Amino acid sequence: MEHLLVTGGAGFIGANFVHHLLAHTDVRVTVLDKLTYAASREALASLPAARVDLVVGDVADAEVVDLLVASADAVVHFAAESHNDNSLTDPSPFVQTNIVGTFTLLEAVRRHGTRLHHVSTDEVYGDLPLIESGAEDPQRFTEQTAYQPSSPYSASKAASDHLVRAWVRSFGVQATLSNCSNNYGPWQHVEKFIPRQVTELIDGRRPRLYGVGANVRDWIHVDDHSSAVWTILTEGRIGETYLVGADGERSNLEVVQTLLEVFGRPRDDFESVADRAGHDLRYAIDATKLRTELGWCPQHADFTEGLAQTVEWYRAHEAWWRPAKAATEAAYAAKGQ
Ligand code: NAD
Ligand code: DAU
Repeated sequence: MEHLLVTGGAGFIGANFVHHLLAHTDVRVTVLDKLTYAASREALASLPAARVDLVVGDVADAEVVDLLVASADAVVHFAAESHNDNSLTDPSPFVQTNIVGTFTLLEAVRRHGTRLHHVSTDEVYGDLPLIESGAEDPQRFTEQTAYQPSSPYSASKAASDHLVRAWVRSFGVQATLSNCSNNYGPWQHVEKFIPRQVTELIDGRRPRLYGVGANVRDWIHVDDHSSAVWTILTEGRIGETYLVGADGERSNLEVVQTLLEVFGRPRDDFESVADRAGHDLRYAIDATKLRTELGWCPQHADFTEGLAQTVEWYRAHEAWWRPAKAATEAAYAAKGQ
């Protein structure tokens, strides 16, 4: 595998994955990215031009996609509309990019016989109940969990997963899939939970919790997601799905309280704002298959340390996130969030 096509490689996880490839492999990378509001040329700017090139284009544009797939040894597909709150305001781009875009890519890899890894989310499984205090063996998602997506975003990702599996079975497409939990780390847009709270705190304002902050997310450092994707691409079995997670369950309230501690602020110095419609209660990943079958292991075990490093990264990269901040907050304020 010498030349990879990475769709959505100028977004948060895609860009971190390209950095991971440059640091740990010899592959050459072509990024296909539409450069939506969520993308960042700067995230790729420090990388050598001899190994990384950026094609600005749409994953739903069959002509561009065919041309790029024709010259790649494999494709890793990150491109998507990714934010649940946006999908509640306007689902249309989620259907177009996440479903039609994946269909377009599948047709191209089918024509060219190209290996594909499809990056997806644990949200396709819907949510789990909150853990009752004293519960011994709380439920977690596995590769066998039934699909039950809640939001337009997660429904569009579920649809894309179904398309990939159908193209594997019906047309013999050489694809693997992964469904990962919530990522954190550098280059994440300020609309997302952790960067929003970090940048509010940098600005001397109070974090915003939807409702009382009881909802639980299963956090993984983006570097660990990158290593998982590379492991599955190079060692995974065709047609298989691997769940990716690092046993990082925390309530949103716990995350905010950890951040308040990092900033030396009182633990109750936050605001409760309007809750998200249809807000999933709890996500939790059982990554046994990936760990035992492929020997993958996350390296960022200490969430508090990972959060503190992420805070430092946002302090050092204010020039990057500042231009998006005011408009993002204005959009939240208009919804009472
Ligand atoms: P992001 O929103 O930060 O980045 C998405 C990237 O895709 C952007 O660079 C954007 O410009 C690009 N893009 C959007 N529409 C496009 C189109 N039509 N054609 C080409 N490029 C387009 O998203 P992210 O958080 O980096 O997520 C990347 C992938 O990982 C998504 O498929 C998402 O569903 C999945 N995922 C995300 C998480 C998470 O916690 N963020 C967890 C599990 C899975
Ligand atoms: O689980 C994987 C998914 O994680 C990915 O598929 C999505 O692309 C990614 O955006 C993320 O989805 P969430 O909806 O879980 O992430 P978000 O950062 O939007 O919110 C995390 C939690 O924090 C969620 O319970 C909502 C809550 N929240 C969010 C914001 C922006 C708040 O309490 N306050 C906020 O200001």
